[in-house]
This record gives sequence, structure tokens and C-alpha cells, in this order.
Amino acid sequence: MKRFARSFAPLATFGVALGLMVLSASSVQSEGKKTTYKDVKPILDKACIGCHGAAVQSDGIRLDSYAEIMKGRNLVVAGDPKKSKIVAFVNGTRQPRMPMSGKPLPQASIDLLTKWVKEGAAEK
Ligand code: HEC
Repeated sequence: MKRFARSFAPLATFGVALGLMVLSASSVQSEGKKTTYKDVKPILDKACIGCHGAAVQSDGIRLDSYAEIMKGRNLVVAGDPKKSKIVAFVNGTRQPRMPMSGKPLPQASIDLLTKWVKEGAAEK
């Protein structure tokens, strides 16, 4: 048992060091600026407002302003990406996947939308 502990020790140290590295890497990431509406607006403007904007309001929703997006219908449930339709319809959890009849958004854009909602969907 003692022998086992001794031979295991370097591994454990390595494991702790690795864990610390991962931890510090992720805290560096979350220390960054909070995601705000300004960060996700370009994504929505480019991919969504052709069908969900002032001129055309598919399904009766508009995604061309913060006020419209936060109006209700669970388009955004701050802090809860799973319940937020704006995320679920874009990552394919709910169908038809948005943007409708277009290519899915790049993963980086989906991630940013998700992060924004998770962090509370702040306007500024
Ligand atoms: C080509 C037109 C088109 C584009 C572009 C488009 N949508 Fe849609 N969207 C629709 C239509 C049509 C529906 C209704 C679909 C249905 O119910 O079958 C819809 C429905 C939705 C719904 C469901 C609303 C609800 O309350 O159930 C959400 C959320 C949504 N769209 C988000 C988006 C987002 C986010 C984008 C951009 C990434 C986007 N859409 C781009 C046409 C579009």
C-alpha cells in the first residue's frame, strides 16, 4: 500500500498541476468582458432580420432590436440558453433550424449567442 502511494504520487501531482492549468485557463476566459447585445447584434442582423425584421416578421417575431428580442415568447430567457428559442432554433435543438432554409450559423456564432444568454443577455 505504501509502495503504491509512493509510485502514485508523481501522477497525482501531475494531475493536480493539469487541473490547475485548466482552471486558470477557464478563469482567464471568463474574466473577459461580459457579452452584450452589441456583440450578437451583427450575427442577427446578418442572418435573421431578412425574415424577422421591420419588413417581414415570420412567425410574428422581430429580431432587429433589443426591445423586440426581449419582448417575450421565450425568445430569450436570460441565463437559460436551453429555454431560449433564439439559441435552441439556431443550434438545431428545435426545428425548423434557423436561419430557415439557409446554412446553419458558424459554431462560433452559435457559441457567442449561447454565451450571451448564459451571461444574462445584457443590453450593455
Ligand atoms: C428565410 C427566412 C428566415 C430566416 C433567415 C430566419 N428565420 Fe426564423 N423563422 C422563419 C419562419 C418561416 C419561422 C416559422 C417556422 C415554423 O413555425 O415552421 C421562423 C421561426 C423562428 C423562431 C420560432 C419563434 C417561436 O416563437 O416559436 C425563432 C426563435 C426564429 N425563427 C429565430 C431565428 C433566428 C435566430 C434567425 C437567424 C439566425 C432566423 N430565425 C432566421 C423564417 C426565417
